[in-house]
Formats: sequence, C-alpha cells, structure tokens
Amino acid sequence: MEIITKNPEETKKIGRTLAKYVKPGDVILLYGALGTGKTTLIQGLAEGLEVNPDIYVTSPTFAIVNLYEGKIPILHLDLYRLESEDIEELGLWEYVSNSVIVIEWADRLSRIYWEDFLEIHMDYLNRQGRVISFVGYGEWSELLKALGKDEELALLL
Ligand SMILES: Nc1ncnc2c1ncn2[C@@H]1O[C@H](COP(=O)(O)OP(=O)(O)OP(=O)(O)O)[C@@H](O)[C@H]1O
Ligand SMILES: [Mg+2]
Repeated sequence: MEIITKNPEETKKIGRTLAKYVKPGDVILLYGALGTGKTTLIQGLAEGLEVNPDIYVTSPTFAIVNLYEGKIPILHLDLYRLESEDIEELGLWEYVSNSVIVIEWADRLSRIYWEDFLEIHMDYLNRQGRVISFVGYGEWSELLKALGKDEELALLL
C-alpha cells in the first residue's frame, strides 16, 4: 500500500488513523531519510492514542527511548545515533508488552526480531510531498488491508 501526503498534517492523519488498528505489543518500524516525516507520523499516532497534547513527541536523541502514556502506551525509539552493538544491547526482542513500539531508523537493526510487524517507508516526493509505503508482516498483512479501506485515508489514497 502506498499513500502520498501533501503536507505534514496529512502525514499526521495517517498516524491518527493507524492508532485505530494498533494493540499492545505491536511493533512499527519506520524507514526513510532525515526529515521525511517519521516523527511527524508518530505525532499523529500519539494523538490518535490520546497522549496528553502537552507532551511533545520528538525523537529521543539522548534518552534512547521515550515513553508516552496513552490509551495504549507508546515506546518511541530512534536508532540514528546508535552503534550496532548498542542496538543489540537494547534487547528489543524482550520489549513485549503493554505498549506499541515504534522505531525510527529501523534500517540500523542488524536483524528483525519479530514475526508480526508493520514497516513504514517514507520518501521525499517534493518539498512538502512524501511517498509513504506500508508493508505488513504476519498479522499486519491483514490489518493493512483494513487500514487501506479506512474512510479516513480514502481521500489520501
Ligand atoms: N508531507 C509531509 N509529511 C511529513 N513531514 C513533512 C511533510 N511536508 C513537510 N514536512 C516537514 O518535514 C519535516 C519532517 O520532520 P520529521 O522530524 O518528522 O522527520 P524524521 O523523518 O523524523 O527525521 P529524522 O530522521 O531527522 O528523525 C518537518 O519539518 C515537517 O514539517
Ligand atoms: Mg525523527
């Protein structure tokens, strides 16, 4: 599935819509160059999961991981600055749980620990345009079909 967004608001909307489909323990891997909108999409997800709007959702550069309390808690990681040994040490495969895990710069992972997960790839189209494509693995291949039919996204598809 592929969606083109024309501005950050539309990218947030994807995150908000995605929030209707996620459940505790879900893993979302984000790929895409600097500034393609990974964090922007996560801001929308946080809105959709009713994270307190006073909490600023931004890449956890020094903390490694940010936790936002919402209808489902969100664990937000950004692997950009981490070395591969550090990433191994995070023990990501053990982060089972009551949270949704979202990982920016997932291409830094040397292996994928999960069977059910959603990949989101973000690319530049032009200044405010982004091409966002989704690949679902395991149960996420079905969930993605439902997301693709969601009327909130219909206008963007
Ligand atoms: N269609 C769009 N979707 C998302 N962001 C957009 C879009 N058009 C413009 N932007 C702008 O691009 C920037 C995206 O920044 P964001 O922090 O979300 O990117 P990122 O992929 O998380 O980058 P980084 O790799 O540095 O963490 C923001 O300034 C946002 O306003
Ligand atoms: Mg970011």
